[in-house]
Amino acid sequence: MSGSAWKFVSAFLREPLKVGAIWPSSETLSRAVADACSFAPHDTVVELGPGTGNFTQLLAERLDKSGRLVALELSATNVEVLRRRFPKGEIHFDSAEHLAKHVQPQTARCVVSGLAWGNMLPAMQDRIMSAITSSLAPGGQFVGFAYSHARYYPTTLRFRKLMFREFARVEFTPTIWRNLPPAYVYRCWRD
Ligand SMILES: C[S@@+](CC[C@H](N)C(=O)[O-])C[C@H]1O[C@@H](n2cnc3c(N)ncnc32)[C@H](O)[C@@H]1O
Repeated sequence: MSGSAWKFVSAFLREPLKVGAIWPSSETLSRAVADACSFAPHDTVVELGPGTGNFTQLLAERLDKSGRLVALELSATNVEVLRRRFPKGEIHFDSAEHLAKHVQPQTARCVVSGLAWGNMLPAMQDRIMSAITSSLAPGGQFVGFAYSHARYYPTTLRFRKLMFREFARVEFTPTIWRNLPPAYVYRCWRD
């Protein structure tokens, strides 16, 4: 097990509900998420709940030096790993609902989510969604993933409704089996 995967598991054992997954996303899922994001090398990209950075790695590779990578993560263990792995990224130990204050005065071309929406209370879903929509540039994208087994959880269905309410277009991939557990990717576009 790699050092960062072990850190991820230990963060989960400490705070299972908050971390929401026992294992970091696979390379296949991480690539599917990164490939769903369209941004130019000089853009601002935000990641919410990056864990130990499997998506972050690919996003950082695709942004050049003029681009800005802002990440908000609530597990102190994961933040420590992220700051070591991505010294040029803006890594905040803060909740995704406070995203706007970290992005301003710019707006984000793309917001990528690693959050476990299915574990979240409705009021938290609303606060984070409102922070996302107010931080996205016109035409910007919101991309994330969800676990296939939780597709019909009431909290997941509620979040799905929020996406359709807030975005002009919403798309889902088929299930990606090479992940523990299997998952799918969604992407949404702002007007
Ligand atoms: C399901 S894990 C995904 C981690 C990583 N993106 C991956 O796919 O391997 C969710 C991550 O979101 C973080 N998290 C949970 N609630 C959060 C919040 N309100 N704001 C920021 N991060 C949060 C957890 O600490 C955890 O690292």
